[in-house]
Amino acid sequence: MADLEALRSTALAELSAASDAAALEAWRLKYLGRQGVVTQLLRGLVELPVEERRVVGAAANALRGDLEEALAQRRAVAEEAAMAELEAGQIDVTLPGNRGLVGRLHPITQTLREMLAALTQMGFQVAEGPEVELDYYNFEALRIPKHHPARDTMDTFWLDNRRNDERFMLLRTHTSPNQVRFMEGNQPPVRVAVPGRVYRYEATDATHQWMFHQVELLAVDEGISMQHLKGTLTQFAQALFGRDRPVRFRCDYFPFVEPGAEVAVECGLCGGKGCRSCGNEGWLEIGGAGMVHREILENVGYDADRYTGFAAGFGVERIAMLRHGIDDARHFYANELAFLRQF
Ligand code: FA5
Repeated sequence: MADLEALRSTALAELSAASDAAALEAWRLKYLGRQGVVTQLLRGLVELPVEERRVVGAAANALRGDLEEALAQRRAVAEEAAMAELEAGQIDVTLPGNRGLVGRLHPITQTLREMLAALTQMGFQVAEGPEVELDYYNFEALRIPKHHPARDTMDTFWLDNRRNDERFMLLRTHTSPNQVRFMEGNQPPVRVAVPGRVYRYEATDATHQWMFHQVELLAVDEGISMQHLKGTLTQFAQALFGRDRPVRFRCDYFPFVEPGAEVAVECGLCGGKGCRSCGNEGWLEIGGAGMVHREILENVGYDADRYTGFAAGFGVERIAMLRHGIDDARHFYANELAFLRQF
């Protein structure tokens, strides 16, 4: 009985020194756990004579009950202290964490990829060409000789003072030089799409930039006609703008095609009635197109009596604006995260 009292006072002294959850658990295992001192002691009672067993047994059980109650009280106190510490504002577990920034594709890259995906599905291969180009490929080989008025529609960034010489270099003003480059290196049949940046020395406004992207299309084979041009470009435009979107072809002039056409889709906002967004036209131009001029086929060594082809060039920024309802192309390159995060 004296041992029991000694055990009680040591256990309670140790308990009052234990202040956190881990220390309290260690104490519980030491005294009340399966291998604990009190548990072992209760098991050892069987060895006592019956009379003593009753008395000591009752006392030991009372001790266990007291220790359990004391533990519960200490736990409650420790938990309260822990809560008080949290509430005191040392750690506000309700504050939002720091979310890492996730990168994404630029809207022009997204649009470009969707355009190329539609074209590769239709059987076009993708090729690329240089941004720094020779006058020869950008103009001369496309039937735009020196002093031709068509040069005025594409004001040029020259990389050399002696301009308008076919050997000199410039930043390409369109992706059309790749028609010639690709045909020089490949025999028909040809079905190729060439994406890339182009540059024009012009004032910037809501629909004009000095750097923008185009996708060039070229198909050359026996028997290719205007019918193929219209069918292919209609399917391409409808892949981007939806199956039901009307596509319009009107006469236009480009020196490297004959006949030439302007490609437009019906304005998605007014459905063709005319509104502010389409300048009351009801239609929005997305690119130029036409049947490859036979002189160009001849210049690259193709048999122009046997082969014909169509070509087209689309403005990627224009198409991205139409698809997302963006009214000013300058947003694309202003590096405003608030704008870019929407895509
Ligand atoms: C051309 O560049 C011709 N190479 C297209 C072509 C290819 C015709 C093959 C025939 C055969 P154009 O200058 O119209 O054509 O430009 C084509 C498209 O580029 C325009 O419809 C427009 O969508 C886009 N674009 C033209 N200028 C700008 C600019 N400053 N900023 C943004 N997009 C432009």
